[in-house]
Amino acid sequence: MVQQNHTLRADGVGVTVVLDKDGGLPRMVHWGTDPGVGVPDVAYRSSALPLLPVQHEGWAGRPAIAGDRDGRWQHLRLRLDGEVELTGTSMVVRARDDEAGVAVESIVEVTPQGVVKMRHSLTNVGPGVWSLANLRCFLPVPDEAVEKLDMTGRWALERAPQRGSFGFGAHVRESRRGRTGHDATLLLSVGTQGFANRTGEIWSVHVGWSGNHEHTAERLPDAIAALGGGELLEPGEVRLAEGETYHTPTVYFVHSGQGLDGIRDRMYRLIRARESHPRTPRPVVLNTWEAVYFDHNLDKLKELADTAARVGVERFVLDDGWFRHRRDDRAGLGDWFVDETVWPNGLEPLVKHVHGLGMQFGLWFEPEMVNPDSDLFRGHPDWVLAMPGRLPAESRNQHVLDVSRPEVFDYLLGRIAELVSRLDIDYIKWDHNRDVHEPTSVHRQTLAVYELLRTLKARFPELEIESCSSGGARIDLGILQHTDRVWTSDTNDPIDRQQIQLWTGLLLPPELMGAHVGPKRTHVTGRVTDLHLRCVTALFGHAGMEADITAFDELDLLTEWVALYKAKRELIHTGRVVVPDLADPSAVVHGVVSQDGTHALFSYAQTTSTPANIPRYGAPFRLRLPGLNPDLSYETRVVFGPHGKLDLPEARWTGRALSTIGLPMPRLNPADALVLELVA
Ligand code: GLA
Repeated sequence: MVQQNHTLRADGVGVTVVLDKDGGLPRMVHWGTDPGVGVPDVAYRSSALPLLPVQHEGWAGRPAIAGDRDGRWQHLRLRLDGEVELTGTSMVVRARDDEAGVAVESIVEVTPQGVVKMRHSLTNVGPGVWSLANLRCFLPVPDEAVEKLDMTGRWALERAPQRGSFGFGAHVRESRRGRTGHDATLLLSVGTQGFANRTGEIWSVHVGWSGNHEHTAERLPDAIAALGGGELLEPGEVRLAEGETYHTPTVYFVHSGQGLDGIRDRMYRLIRARESHPRTPRPVVLNTWEAVYFDHNLDKLKELADTAARVGVERFVLDDGWFRHRRDDRAGLGDWFVDETVWPNGLEPLVKHVHGLGMQFGLWFEPEMVNPDSDLFRGHPDWVLAMPGRLPAESRNQHVLDVSRPEVFDYLLGRIAELVSRLDIDYIKWDHNRDVHEPTSVHRQTLAVYELLRTLKARFPELEIESCSSGGARIDLGILQHTDRVWTSDTNDPIDRQQIQLWTGLLLPPELMGAHVGPKRTHVTGRVTDLHLRCVTALFGHAGMEADITAFDELDLLTEWVALYKAKRELIHTGRVVVPDLADPSAVVHGVVSQDGTHALFSYAQTTSTPANIPRYGAPFRLRLPGLNPDLSYETRVVFGPHGKLDLPEARWTGRALSTIGLPMPRLNPADALVLELVA
């Protein structure tokens, strides 16, 4: 047997995929740290993972491909079709099973950031229909990956991490919600024993798709373990006629030898390198939702805009409640015409006022949705995404429209485009407030929604769009190909937000995460917090506010914070995020370090009480700040908060001293926070 190992690697990023291709379909020997030159040309075959693991390849786990042709040909025997196309960084493999009438093309690419992107396409090349059940992408992970980490969550508390051991069997995270989901894991990670923010080797996967999907990690006694995922298809959802092709979403595989911070670093680099990544300074937002809810009143909103402009807001977003019949959440969705009773002169007076104050104007839509109490539903009850004659149960009093129907697509495109161009709208908050139940095809729906977003962006290149879904239920790299930020969560509770943003930040850099200063008493949790804590928390994202700030008695502090955000946003939105591993979980600490290591901001929030110290009166604790240049010395100062006065000892600290000994400082009271700036 001629042994032909081949490596895919991008220059200098330290990640490779080692392939064993001895003339058959390639197998994947290794994904992870670059072993350098001189990988021995020995037979790895039995310990390698097939590119498309199925039974014929000796794989007894969840198969890469499942499907059938009229109850036959459930098991494929794919053979290489032509040469494997290899460059140093990518591989294209074509394979066929002529008897079954199936052809598959796989593309594996190591990006310049060291992320492995994989996707497959399956074509029915036989007569009749091929029903596809699954098409999954996998990479191998070694025996040393013994722990797993993923996230779950719910409305207003997304991205709660959960940890466990990665033993034998399949660990599967599925979403059948028709959207990404509040409980979507974003990343499924496995790693070496005790991996943490700064230490350990980690392998993570993300499926870039906004519909039903799965992430899996599977270990069998007789094979190398596999990490992967793909779209989750329902029975009969993808029936390919002869000549038709199904494409998987892109599945992203990220490896780190430096803990979760290494995952963050690679993902951020990948995301920031996208052509569509927002590159203009992320404007300070005021969103009207928690300020006025459905109570739209021109004078009140103008006053809100005036105050917003005064504190330095740059984008004013009118949330839900502006369109026909929408006096509460029971009616109006689908009727995308400005409500004549509430807005007798249209939205123009408000838009002009906002633009006149030098701010951008944003408007809320929930395009995929319809209330039964709407003109749209009364006129077109058949536009609902549903099995014929069977309406799904309502949720938040609404149904989902079938956007894959051309007349629905055209209606939505027409209404949104007309409003965007006539009102000169700069920004859309695009919401999706319910799970999709009993749909005919989430696959078609998801593609149609992407196409709608793409068409709007092509028509209005300056238009920015936010992906919102009752908070953070549509956060993934699929929707982010067409949108410019996400609404991270419907809770503005800063204590909960510290965690939500930290874990959403495992996938997304701060500039894509909407983070707003809410009211003193958080509407969702009822918790009362200090403005300092709310400001520190919202600083490390795409910052804004969402409260009736005309009633704030601390507008000076808010103004100071807006100025700080404007001064530091370039650093926050381009730097590396570092998260120290704290021994005491009562605090949340994270920082952003400029790529050249000369400038950093760290946030320290004391989220609960701790027996480790007596606040204010106790001995100082030491805050270890990792990720700086060990050889540079930094001037360190508090640039925001805490509530009381706090003096740091005047000294310069080397990066090495900061990461090993730590910065001595008093422990803050619970629910207090501060921002440190370090300049070399
Ligand atoms: C969702 C969003 C909120 C707000 C409301 C409006 O819940 O997440 O931010 O826009 O809808 O109904």
